[in-house]
Amino acid sequence: MKLAVLKETNDHETRVSVTPDIVKSLIDAGFECQVEKDAGVNSYFEDKDYSNAGATIVDGAAALYAEADVVVKINAPDPEQVRSMKPGSVLMSFMFAATNPELVEACAAAKVSAFSMDAIPRISKAQSMDALSSQSNLGGYKSVILAANALGKVFPLLMTAAGTLKPSRIVIMGAGVAGLQAIATAKRLGAIVEVSDIRPEVKEQIESLGGKFIEVDSAEAVQTEGGYVKEVSAEYLQKQKEVVAKHVANADIVITTALIPGRKAPMLITEEMVKSMRFGSVILDMAVSSGGNCELSEEHKTVVKHGVTIIGESNLPALLPLNASELYAKNISTFLKHLADKDGFKWEMDEEITKGSLITHNGEKIHPTVLPKEEEATSNSSIIE
Ligand code: NAI
Repeated sequence: MKLAVLKETNDHETRVSVTPDIVKSLIDAGFECQVEKDAGVNSYFEDKDYSNAGATIVDGAAALYAEADVVVKINAPDPEQVRSMKPGSVLMSFMFAATNPELVEACAAAKVSAFSMDAIPRISKAQSMDALSSQSNLGGYKSVILAANALGKVFPLLMTAAGTLKPSRIVIMGAGVAGLQAIATAKRLGAIVEVSDIRPEVKEQIESLGGKFIEVDSAEAVQTEGGYVKEVSAEYLQKQKEVVAKHVANADIVITTALIPGRKAPMLITEEMVKSMRFGSVILDMAVSSGGNCELSEEHKTVVKHGVTIIGESNLPALLPLNASELYAKNISTFLKHLADKDGFKWEMDEEITKGSLITHNGEKIHPTVLPKEEEATSNSSIIE
């Protein structure tokens, strides 16, 4: 099986989907690896590292797309590139298929079987393939480093001969994978960390990392499904906002990571709340590309509003390209070895991970999230067959 590793072309992208170490392990497993020239250079992997690992370096993407049995990427190719892929070949990348209909149509029309990295089910046996988690984890770490760098204060309590410095106060909104890593990182640097999430079950995890859970006094149970928030009432959100506002006004840094799958990110930090913050404080909005948790954040920009620095960097893992590529490459190779061996893909259509992540196959759109609503009810049986 011929595997092609393409250079990422999106703005603000520095990662590569496969590292030289993983090339070596795939070649040992019987795959043939071709890597586009300079694919790894922005992640600090040189072409010679790939060729030493056994890959062939190819100049230009066109030949790779046209000849590969499996194309691996971080960001999905554009539909035009998909149309140049071999019928029957396989694409593995983030796709966010439900919001990318043109890409999905192109995969189906080109008879490309597309596996979406963001659709791998979050079950324990797929943890080592979970690229959303591996990248969010690094994003959470980097969010604290960026915010700390923009703050004119240290994090820990510092006792010096010239006086004692008070520790910084950090509020983190959302305690998913990114938020939990942000808590751990801020605590390691010595800050006081307070955390809001609407899933009450995260309280224990927050406290085990040394954070303080901001409690909302409400009898309402937040509905969750598979660990994710499904529904929460406007009244609850209003109550949460009132409680959180006091903590935000008192914070040096606010890091927001709150997302609700398939929806626009919840608006948690209003302009009024920004105005209430101290001159020189910092907000980092990790949800900026999903609509933003802060009313004033701007994607890919750092702006200063009402004396508050608001960081809207939307691809934080790309600021740690070496580690982010290492983890993504491990995710993709575990996933690939689960689905295929050197002789081809197994196509076990009723297997949980395949079923959860395969978007198009044999010229058809098959994943429930890309089917018209009326077909969705019967889609599971058609996937299995
Ligand atoms: P996410 O990125 O979808 O959301 C981040 C956080 O924002 C969540 O904790 C969510 O509850 C919170 N949030 C939503 N609305 C909010 C609001 N109004 N105010 C404050 N917080 C709000 O979450 P992520 O990181 O994808 O993780 C979601 C769940 O998936 C977690 O339960 C996690 O433990 C679970 N998970 C399970 C895995 C596995 O079993 N393999 C792997 C990774 C995650």
